[in-house]
Amino acid sequence: MIDFKDVSKHYDNHTALRKITISVSKGEMVFITGPSGSGKTTLLKLIYLSEKLDEGHITVSERELENLKDSEIPLLRRNIGVVFQDFKLLNNRNVFENIALALRIRGEDDRELKSRVFDALKIVNLRHKADSYPQALSGGEQQRVAIARAIVTEPPIILADEPTGNVDPDTAAGIIKTFKDINARGSTILIASHNRELFRNTGRRVFKLENGNLAGEELG
Ligand SMILES: Nc1ncnc2c1ncn2[C@@H]1O[C@H](COP(=O)(O)OP(=O)(O)OP(=O)(O)O)[C@@H](O)[C@H]1O
Ligand SMILES: [Mg+2]
Repeated sequence: MIDFKDVSKHYDNHTALRKITISVSKGEMVFITGPSGSGKTTLLKLIYLSEKLDEGHITVSERELENLKDSEIPLLRRNIGVVFQDFKLLNNRNVFENIALALRIRGEDDRELKSRVFDALKIVNLRHKADSYPQALSGGEQQRVAIARAIVTEPPIILADEPTGNVDPDTAAGIIKTFKDINARGSTILIASHNRELFRNTGRRVFKLENGNLAGEELG
């Protein structure tokens, strides 16, 4: 479903990813790990096309990203739920509206929209914060809103960048459980994290990045 072939990405004169070849099948949940600066976020950004690759090939759902026209990018993104490392919540909209936005864009009717937003809020244990604004939430709560927003449309692909970076270990375990449940319902999921606890004993594939290189693959 997601294939990288000899993918490199350079920022100015810094090489963030070097000749990365990985393949993630439909229905898999995999982890990407490595130290700070090793290229995890960059790898996810290339899939979402918020950065363009410099060399190699990426295909996502059988589309070759390097040949995608700008006009085709919104359609690609509609199929991908993203938990950004810095959340990217809209500060002038409340929690409910942040999560509802993707459904509104799809033209979901009001009743269905409300029920899906509250289902997503329930999954991340934040129903009581539906009317709050992002600035009035703790870092961990904002992170959980970002997760609810990414899963509310049940997209075919979910990219989660350090989705447990701001929460305690028990909440982190709950979040991983949530991703497992959503994965079991069919979404293909890539989770980037430097926290080895997250994938220990998951039995899922873990790609290790070091300094922009793929340093190995193991089972969590
Ligand atoms: N927009 C940019 N311009 C220049 N260099 C960048 C840019 N974004 C990332 N880099 C560099 O590319 C490298 C990889 O960054 P990336 O954000 O992918 O790492 P990461 O593994 O996600 O790190 P972290 O664990 O800290 O989130 C780093 O050395 C970083 O400084
Ligand atoms: Mg990162």
